[in-house]
Formats: sequence, C-alpha cells, structure tokens
Amino acid sequence: MDSSVLAQVIAAVKEAGRLLTDPNTVAEIRAKSVTDYVTNVDVAVQTQLKAKLAALTPDVQFMGEEQDNAGLDPHGAIWILDPVDGTTNLIHNFHFSAISLALYQGGQVVFGVVYHPYSDSCFTATRGGGSFLNGQPISVSNAAQLSQCLASVGTVPGRRDLGETAFRQLWTLYNACQDVRRMGCASLDLSFVACGRQDLYVEPALKPWDYAAGLLLVEEAGGKVTQPDGSPVTLLEGCGVLASNGHVHQQALEALQL
Ligand code: IPD
Ligand code: CA
Ligand code: CA
Repeated sequence: MDSSVLAQVIAAVKEAGRLLTDPNTVAEIRAKSVTDYVTNVDVAVQTQLKAKLAALTPDVQFMGEEQDNAGLDPHGAIWILDPVDGTTNLIHNFHFSAISLALYQGGQVVFGVVYHPYSDSCFTATRGGGSFLNGQPISVSNAAQLSQCLASVGTVPGRRDLGETAFRQLWTLYNACQDVRRMGCASLDLSFVACGRQDLYVEPALKPWDYAAGLLLVEEAGGKVTQPDGSPVTLLEGCGVLASNGHVHQQALEALQL
C-alpha cells in the first residue's frame, strides 16, 4: 500500500487515541461475558476508524473486535482492528491501553501500528521495512539466556478455562527468567518485545486483533513469534502466542512444554 496512505492511516489512529485519554471518557461499561467488557470508547474508536479506513481504502475489508466478522474473504486485503486493547485497564484508568491496527494481505500481515496515546508512543512496522517507535528504528534485545530475560505473560481473562495454563506459564518463566510482568495489553506486550524493553511474552489464547500488528512489529524488529507449542500462528483465527527476541525462543519453547 502507498506510503502516503499509510501515513494517513497512522494519523487517523493517533487522532482516535484522543478518545482514550479524555479523563471522562468511559461513560458506559457493558459485560460481553463475566470477564470481558466493552465500553463506549471501544465502540467510538472502532466506528471512527472504520469510517476513516473505508474512505481511505475502499477496497480493503474490515475486521474489528466490536462487530460480527463473519463473511470476510481471506483472499482479499483486511484491516484488523482492536479499538481498545486493554479495556480492563481503560475502565480502571490504568493508562496501559492501545489501539492496534494491522493490514492483512496475501496470507500475511504487511503493516502494523500500535499506538499508546498516554505516552504518545506510536509503534509501526511494514513487512520488509523494519519496525519503528515514533519514526526511530527499534530492535529486539540481545539476551541469549532465559536467565537474562524479563518476561511478560497474559492471563487470558476471557478464557478462565485456560487460566491454569497461563499461570503455569507464568510460574515456568518466573523460575527461568529474572522476573515476570503482567500488563494487560497484548499489543503493547508485543511492542515491548519489539523494542527490547522485555525479552519475551506468552499468552495461551488471543484473538487476531490482539496480536496481528504486534506480531509484525516483533518480526521486523528481529524477533520471533509462534504459538506456545512452536507451531505457526494463525492470522484470521485466534491462537496462543509466544513472542521473543528470537535468541531465547527455543529455550522458552522447551521450558513451556514441561
Ligand atoms: C485483552 C488484553 C489482555 C489479554 C487478553 C486480551 P482486550 O484484550 O490484550 O492483555 O490478556 O487476552 O483479550 O479485551 O482488552 O481488548
Ligand atoms: Ca485485545
Ligand atoms: Ca479490545
């Protein structure tokens, strides 16, 4: 896709970020399930960006967390949006939520942007073009042993049936690494692996909009992303994710299979 169009897409994502940072932003909270919430902000960000993307790229289909995504043609291009990744953080005014947008085309993610509006941090990547934070190139860490690593985990809040797996992964990495974090925003977890602030991240189950953009950020920053059992991630259907700087990927896979 033309770089001037991508620049307009990034600008639209940043503009939508203002919907998250307004302190009076969350007016309505609805439980999709006992542990999965949607607010007026999630809906407003998706509505605004969907309209903007339709105007900028009318031929590209749209997948978003807050809509029914049945009937998409996998052979065509698809925007994949998480309007608010980290909704529970948003509800608690925790300031660790992001907008995550990816472009899927030809069976792969070719563009990704993850925007953290509270710090005005904009992570971007294009396939073959590298990863950037606010326009500066980023790369994964050099850690070569799990004992040198800071890891993060996701606790699959919407899939309590997988909670035990998540906490087993946490316990494994806590024992093998320097320490473990749980920040509540998968796209930023992946962005932080991409820029080397942490060395790996694992979560047993996610949706495409949680990881599509972050996956490209990690890969283009020199890292590796697979499922926690080592198999390739699926892009239009959700799956578990293990992302790392690449150097410790095999060690992490072996540790997590125990
Ligand atoms: C959630 C966040 C969280 C992760 C969950 C996701 P949401 O996304 O990324 O960190 O643990 O698995 O569902 O629901 O806030 O968009
Ligand atoms: Ca999400
Ligand atoms: Ca979301």
